[in-house]
Amino acid sequence: TWRPPKPSVPDCSSRSDKDSVCGCLARAGWCLGRGWNMAAIGRVVAAAGKHVPVMLHEAVRALALAPALAAGDGHVLVDCTLGKGGHTGLLLSSVATARVLGIDRDPSALQAVHEDGLSAGGRLWLAHASFAEAAGLRAAVCGEAGFAGMLADLGVSSMQLDDAARGFSFRGGSEALDMRFDQRHPSLVAAGRWGAGVVGRLPERDEARSWPNRPSIGPSCPSSRLTAAELLQGVTEATLEQSLTLLGNEPRASRIAGAIGRVRSLAPLPPRFAVAKRGRAQGQDQALPPWATCSGFASLVEAVSGGPSRTKTHAATRTFQAVRMLVNDELGHLATWLGEAPQCLAPGGRLAVITFHSGEDALVAAAFRRLVATGWFRKPAIHGARDSAPSSHEVSRNPRARSARLRVLERTLASEQGPLSWSREDLVASLPATLRTAVGIAARAQTEAGGQGQAAAPPLASALDAARQRRRL
Ligand SMILES: C[S@@+](CC[C@H](N)C(=O)[O-])C[C@H]1O[C@@H](n2cnc3c(N)ncnc32)[C@H](O)[C@@H]1O
Repeated sequence: TWRPPKPSVPDCSSRSDKDSVCGCLARAGWCLGRGWNMAAIGRVVAAAGKHVPVMLHEAVRALALAPALAAGDGHVLVDCTLGKGGHTGLLLSSVATARVLGIDRDPSALQAVHEDGLSAGGRLWLAHASFAEAAGLRAAVCGEAGFAGMLADLGVSSMQLDDAARGFSFRGGSEALDMRFDQRHPSLVAAGRWGAGVVGRLPERDEARSWPNRPSIGPSCPSSRLTAAELLQGVTEATLEQSLTLLGNEPRASRIAGAIGRVRSLAPLPPRFAVAKRGRAQGQDQALPPWATCSGFASLVEAVSGGPSRTKTHAATRTFQAVRMLVNDELGHLATWLGEAPQCLAPGGRLAVITFHSGEDALVAAAFRRLVATGWFRKPAIHGARDSAPSSHEVSRNPRARSARLRVLERTLASEQGPLSWSREDLVASLPATLRTAVGIAARAQTEAGGQGQAAAPPLASALDAARQRRRL
């Protein structure tokens, strides 16, 4: 049996709606009644409006019960999608003998966790990397031993959606339509001016507040080359239509792709717009094509869809999701992770994946089925059908959880001998044709758009990027 430990900081996952200050204050009163101090309560209230971890207890329980953890101390658990550190925080307090490696592709997520001071006595390590680089990180962090568990909570975080300057949201205004998880400019990474991926232990409170204090032992983090605006400028109409269908289930994919195709010959994106004008692009909107800014693109999709949606869902929701997945090649990275993560696990180690998208879930399900067929992996008994979806209670408190699915897999203890014959290529080749196309479509779109996107940063863009990144880390 597993019971969530009493968290050292209050668990915000079960507070009422994320925007409800009343809910937080009510919870703060609840905390006071139980003798929690004002600082801890302040953190609960401050967390209002931030990311609420989905299926927190189910996912953490799945990893905390991994048989690999039974054998002694010093194991490493990996949170492949650190975000605001909700799952990591509970992992650290649930498994007091393990270290946690938190990975995120977005440097600002790492920075936020750093600023929160969640160091857990030196047991938390951070890496700026994609989880697609898991194999390299394993070599750097725990050598041949392998990880005792890996968690991936896929998709975008509320912080990313809510930060208008990141250009993720149809609720945004005149900000550039960016949508990259990692906004570092690739030419800076290539030139070594902005780090290779870094792995670092978080400093203790009495140590100098510099992070990372052990830099550059990780692999380099592949940065998304093009912003959403640049991608939409260069991708062919056919690929865009297919992407909107496969990644967004958008019924009006052909009309939306057709409209972009027609307009873009009239009003092309100024060269390097999205890099140079990241953030607000005030005063420029008239001269810009509609997909250059968040509001412009949302209005275009809305107009093509016959006006504002009559349901609670914005008419551009599916399109924005599809474009975000395209920009960040989310299915491609997931396929690579599924090709590498199984070999990174110690015997008795577990993988836990939370998906929010039917394509992602189908990919994870297909990989897990094939891994079970190798005889090296099994579906652990603790994970019943009841645990694979969020409870109605959770969905009522956090509507973002409604499409979540949790899948868990365990490497058997008897799987110590011989290499596992398993690769991304085999996995992708075994997928149904539609899913295979979906996995490869972002790479195709990036190639099509690459000729018209930025190949190397102009001096202005480099300077902006460098200044911005210096402020961040
Ligand atoms: C849903 S949030 C995770 C929230 C986190 N579990 C929490 O409790 O706060 C997803 C995070 O994964 C990150 N991400 C997305 N794709 C990634 C990848 N390929 N590698 C590493 N991080 C990724 C995003 O930047 C985002 O911060």
